[in-house]
Amino acid sequence: MNELPSILLVGGGKMGSALLSGWITSKVMPEKITVVEPNPSPVFLRRMKGISLVSSPSDLPCNYSPDAIIFAVKPQIIPSVVGSYTKYLCNSMAISVAAGVTIEQLEVLIGRHSIVRAMPNTPAAIGRGITAAFSNDKVNISQKRLCEQLLKVTGKMVWIENESYMDAITAVSGSGPAYVFLLIECLTKAGIAAGLPNNLSSQLAESTIAGAAELAIKTNESPATLRENVTSPGGTTAAALKILMNPDGMPSLLERAVAAATARSKELAKK
Ligand SMILES: NC(=O)c1ccc[n+]([C@@H]2O[C@H](COP(=O)([O-])OP(=O)(O)OC[C@H]3O[C@@H](n4cnc5c(N)ncnc54)[C@H](OP(=O)(O)O)[C@@H]3O)[C@@H](O)[C@H]2O)c1
Repeated sequence: MNELPSILLVGGGKMGSALLSGWITSKVMPEKITVVEPNPSPVFLRRMKGISLVSSPSDLPCNYSPDAIIFAVKPQIIPSVVGSYTKYLCNSMAISVAAGVTIEQLEVLIGRHSIVRAMPNTPAAIGRGITAAFSNDKVNISQKRLCEQLLKVTGKMVWIENESYMDAITAVSGSGPAYVFLLIECLTKAGIAAGLPNNLSSQLAESTIAGAAELAIKTNESPATLRENVTSPGGTTAAALKILMNPDGMPSLLERAVAAATARSKELAKK
């Protein structure tokens, strides 16, 4: 980080902690971070060295002036929470990571200030997340750079031009880590069912998924080509893929899962 922005994080749950870990790992000065969290978990408190923690916005100093306020509370409580921070937004920028909460809804709640709607994911905690972000027309270039600084420390970051992509982004990358964890669980259980000891099966499953994802990122080949490269006709992989790729198999299952998450994100936006 070039400058030393001051950051106010509202909500220190799973995503707030992931973002916080990313900032701390990338050497954002803890003294520049303030967190509003009414019920910090013991894990969260261990990460809080040097960081100011308050339980409500009324405990913030009256001359407080953060460069960015990140809202990481549940979408359902955004309407009752964000209004208390309006007074800090004249010279600041709001970044909301709440699924399904639109820029328009945020503008109604906090006014036409600089607002970014972002969708990170929890691998942010180890600097391997990806965040897609959309800004309103009040966000200036230096605020965009600051937003990039804050979000890129947690992994990749992409700006999108069309806010309507956000529901599908939420379904693919926001919720996506859960699908991969499920895949690890299922592959581990399948290995155990095939006769492997628990520990060995879980190690094989985790490392195979991590290694395959890394290979897909690092080579120029498409995932389809990589899959075909390891599938000899009549071989073991082909036997498994015949089941995974049947009409009710993995492609259609994932398509339905992502459609359900996209629909849920749209529903949340209506509330
Ligand atoms: N988790 C993900 O993978 C993920 C991915 C992308 C985006 N998001 C978004 O990130 C946001 C947070 O999700 P999460 O999974 O981190 O939820 P979470 O674990 O429940 O975290 C929310 C935190 O906010 C706290 N909180 C409640 N009221 C508050 C208030 N008035 N002021 C400050 N903090 C308050 C909660 O405390 P209590 O538990 O005591 O209520 C909790 O610790 C959501 O909007 C979600 O859509 C999450």
